[in-house]
This record gives sequence, structure tokens and C-alpha cells, in this order.
Amino acid sequence: MKFVILMVVFVAVASRCEGVTSKFRRKREATEDMPFDSDVFSVPDGYNAPQQVHITQGDLNGNAVIVSWVTPTEPGSSTVLYGTTKDKLDKSAKGKHGQYKYYNYTSGFIHHATLKHLKYDTKYYYAVGVGQTVRKFWFKTPPQVGPDVPYTFGLIGDLGQTYDSNRTLSHYESNMDAEAVLFVGDLSYADHYADHDNRRWDSWGRFVERSTAYQPWIWTAGNHELDFAPELGETVPFKPFTNRYHTPYKASNSTAPFWYSIKRGPAYIIVLASYSAYGKYTPQYQWLNEELPKVNRSETPWLIVLMHSPWYNSYNYHYMEGETMRVMFEKWFVQYKVDMVFAGHVHAYERSHRISNTAYNIINEKCTPVPNQDAPVYITIGDGGNIEGLANNMTEPQPSYSAFREASFGHAIFEIKNKTHAYYTWHRNQDGEKVTADSMWFTNRIWLRTDDSSNVV
Ligand SMILES: [Fe+2]
Repeated sequence: MKFVILMVVFVAVASRCEGVTSKFRRKREATEDMPFDSDVFSVPDGYNAPQQVHITQGDLNGNAVIVSWVTPTEPGSSTVLYGTTKDKLDKSAKGKHGQYKYYNYTSGFIHHATLKHLKYDTKYYYAVGVGQTVRKFWFKTPPQVGPDVPYTFGLIGDLGQTYDSNRTLSHYESNMDAEAVLFVGDLSYADHYADHDNRRWDSWGRFVERSTAYQPWIWTAGNHELDFAPELGETVPFKPFTNRYHTPYKASNSTAPFWYSIKRGPAYIIVLASYSAYGKYTPQYQWLNEELPKVNRSETPWLIVLMHSPWYNSYNYHYMEGETMRVMFEKWFVQYKVDMVFAGHVHAYERSHRISNTAYNIINEKCTPVPNQDAPVYITIGDGGNIEGLANNMTEPQPSYSAFREASFGHAIFEIKNKTHAYYTWHRNQDGEKVTADSMWFTNRIWLRTDDSSNVV
């Protein structure tokens, strides 16, 4: 009996102090974008048919949805018809359309309309392309914001439009319970091409429509959304992204679409901008300083932060790029007990223990991550499978803060069960199959004061 207890203690201590570098070796293979004539990029039939349909949350609480789409030939209608019965779309929302030019490219007509005053937990049907080629879709609104409503999020990052990207998206779609995607940045990788070939923004929009038209994707801006190219005369950062992908930033008193927050069921989600200023006195700094104290954990027990560039990353790619933001904000994350931080950017997977590195004051030499149960778990999920390929070169030895790392493509699912427990799984793409390679139970430290660092399943 004593031996068993000793073994349990040993395993618990060992799992806190050491990390695992997965032994799985992904086959090295060429990574290339799917060609324009692939069926996943097909243009819908019909005159001026709406394409690239996508939705995102449209307000703070989940009673509104922003519907966006592109018409290729002429503006057509910016109106969305919707209703709770499939054949009776008795409500309408009038949106607006715009176009942008990028170097020698001119976009289609990009429409955005916000459906407001929706009921919680309700299936809505909607139609776009009114008066010309009508296309119909549906979505389900989230449950009323509150502590004990289950809700399941998907997590995808750095997706791109390769054959691997297609596998990742298909694997995500095979989870029938996931209701919304938390997307941690780097969407189309159009900037990989000469002149930032913006036709790749269009093909990406058509590729992901099979998911984005039916459930909201919560957008984080990555470096591949910058499209800053003075050599092409393009000096307005984020031009294609901001024209194509709207966020409900004003609802959380943000002054720019790149940082904002939403409540969705039991979660409070804060989206940060790695590529917008965050130093002291900047708008983002000021906003986050005022935002964190507003989070009521009795209402939304789960506090999640999304960003693109990770703070804790033990790969030899983008190493320490997130450091300046960590220096600015990590103390606040510990103070407000952020549950988890999801980032992308590094094209691999990694999960940290609960650690912090906030004691340093220039002269005390305390600049090492230490276990801290008030700190978030940091997860890097930039493994969607884009054209830049895999990050497979790791720093050695594995730092003690790193709990699990693997150079693979995949996605994750975060299932909030109630106010005290959530189950997290990471699924690698393995020879076309979806394999669950990392999982753990999260306990909510606001409601259950337990150490979950040994809860790895
Ligand atoms: Fe990136």
C-alpha cells in the first residue's frame, strides 16, 4: 500500500517537473497549396452567387451574428433573410458592401450584415444572395451566458490552404459537438505569393466556408494578416483582413478590430493583437487594463486569452518573439487567474505546465519560469498545416515549464463541462487519420482549488 502511495506521489511530482517530447515523428513530405481548380475551392453555381460565406459573433453576449460574403460580378443585395424555420425566413438584416484594391488586385464585393436580438440556444436559418442566386445556411446561437452551461470550442491556428490544411479542417469537422472555432491567427497565407496574390484570400474563403458559414470563427490577427508591402505601395497594415473579416470589437469598448473580447456561454474570451502596439499607454494596453477587472467569474468562470505569437515556446522557430508582450501582460494574467492562453505562429504543438515568470526586476536575477497555480496553461496550436511547413526543431533539453510538445499538424477541442471542469484534447493528423495525442482535465481554480498539473490523461 505504501509502495502504491509512493508511486502515485512520484508520478504526480514527476509530471509536474518534467515534460514530454513526443516520440511521434511525422513523415517529412512536401507541403504545397491545393491548386486553384481543386474542388474545395469551387465557385458556387449561379449568377453572382455569394461565396466565402462566414459568420462570427456580433456582440458581447452572443445575441448577434455578423454574416459576411462576397459577390463576384456585381454588388447584388447586402440583405440577409433569416428565421427559425427553414422555409420561413421572416426577418431581414440589411448590411453594407465594399471593395478594396491591393496592388494589381481588385476584390469582389464584400458584404457584412449583423443579425441582432437573436434568441439564445436557437437554430437559425439564413439566406444570402437575395434577388439573384440565393444560398441558404444555418447556425446555432450559444446558450445564455452563465456559469454552468456546457460549451465546446474548437481550436485551429495557422491554417493556410494546403492538403494538410484540408485534413485539419476535416478532422475538426468530424467532431460533431464543437460549436465555435477559436482561431489563433494566420488565415490564408496569400502573402506567401508574389504580390501577395489576393486571389488566395478568395480561395481560402471558399475552402473554409463549409465550416465558417455554419458556426462562428472567432478571429485573431496573425503576422500573415499584416500584408504590409511598401514595395507594392501597400502601406496600410491588415488591409485584406479588415475588409474581409469583421470582429465585434466595439461591443467590448475596443477601438480597433484586432483586440476585443466576447462572452460565449460559460467563457470570457479575450483576443489580443500581437502585431498592434501593446506598450504602456497604448490603446491595447489601456483597454486590457480596464477589461480584465470586468470579468465576473461567477458569470463566466472560464477566462481564455487568444493571441498569435506565443509567450512560452520551446521550438527554434519564432523563439522569444512573444517576449515583449509577456513582459507587459503576464503579471495581469496571473493576478486575474487566466485559465488558458492559446497561441499559434509556431507550426507545431506544445502545452505548458502552470508557470509564471514575473519576479524579475532587473537586479534580482529572478528570471526563470516557476510553477504557479495562479498562472495559465499556455498552449501553442499553430499546427493547422500551412504552406510554410512544420516546425520540427526544438530547443534541447526540453525546458521544465514545457509539459508536452510534438512537431505535427492537428487541432484541439476544449469541452467546458460546467463551472469546475473542462476536458481538453489535441488531435494530430496522422497519415490522414485523426489521433488523440494529448489530453487533460482542467479544473477551474476559481471554483476548485486543486493542482491540475498532474491531471494529464
Ligand atoms: Fe504566424
